[in-house]
Amino acid sequence: MLRSALIAASRSAGCRTLVERTPLLRPIVDRFVAGSDVDAAIRIAHELSRDRLVTLDHLGEDTLDRGQAEQTVEAYRTVLARLADEGLGGRAEVSVKLSALGQALPVDGDKIALDNTRRICEAAAAAGTTVTVDMEDHTTTDSTLGIVRALRVDFPGTGTVLQAYLKRTEADCADFAGPGSRIRLCKGAYDEPASAAYRDRSEVDASYVRCLKVLMNGQGYPMVATHDTRLIDIAEHLAAEAGRARDTYEFQMLYGVRPQVQEQLAGRGLRMRVYVPYGTEWYPYFMRRLGERPANLTFFLQALARR
Ligand code: FDA
Repeated sequence: MLRSALIAASRSAGCRTLVERTPLLRPIVDRFVAGSDVDAAIRIAHELSRDRLVTLDHLGEDTLDRGQAEQTVEAYRTVLARLADEGLGGRAEVSVKLSALGQALPVDGDKIALDNTRRICEAAAAAGTTVTVDMEDHTTTDSTLGIVRALRVDFPGTGTVLQAYLKRTEADCADFAGPGSRIRLCKGAYDEPASAAYRDRSEVDASYVRCLKVLMNGQGYPMVATHDTRLIDIAEHLAAEAGRARDTYEFQMLYGVRPQVQEQLAGRGLRMRVYVPYGTEWYPYFMRRLGERPANLTFFLQALARR
């Protein structure tokens, strides 16, 4: 219930104003967000890339403004040029949200998002790296997968995310387990109805394992995005059972979450990628992170009470 409330708050303008105007929250925000500009993102990418891989996310989502979608494309072109200039193209890629690129626009949203993401894929290819398309709430899944299929024709390395809490996902994993596919499997971060998603934690975990089995036994490149150490152990076991070499899959975690586990996995020679968000539009991303662990919320409420 708490998680649902925080996800609802992530879309509330009133809560946003309250949270953004509470300076005491800044240290908690900074734990999850690399900084407000491209310089901060590049600095963190350099630091992390000593032992880990990186995916940079320029924060922003749900735009209904075509000009803002255009600014998002420019922000990605800028960061990709910097990755190339700094020799980071082989260690860092980018993650994009289609709702920041025009998907939700009332007229031609899918086409605009496809064209915009294609321009980011072109810039990524020029920088020697790839793009992964994040997955948002279940009403966008078909549109997002359609756009990813279209992008993969010219940019076969384009990855996407599948969410284990959705009942459809095991079948989507089978569809996307072919050669060259890059699928990031996560549990899912939105508040979804029981008609579309498992709502019980154990059911989500069981679905995650079923999806992992499909991906590990497929011909693509599974990206195991979780901080759940039990699922990480299972993923390693399934990869070994499927005869996978260590460079044919990777683990992924969010910036600021379980950094010691990240270091341990990287230290054992496993491929470990960190998702690093940066930018000024941190509010919805931050609220979703708060809902994932009760201790995060305790710090948050203490800071709000002291304002
Ligand atoms: P779970 O929530 O069960 O957490 C396991 C343990 O990890 C917790 O007990 C806690 O110790 C720690 N932990 C997890 N989250 C934490 C947090 N915020 N703060 C502190 N500790 C925390 N979702 C989505 O819907 N679309 C997407 O595109 C993506 N993309 C994405 C990329 C990457 C690289 C990752 C790692 C995750 C996503 N997600 C996502 C988010 C994902 O769906 C999910 O909400 C979170 O990863 C939390 O789920 P876990 O698998 O970590 O399990």
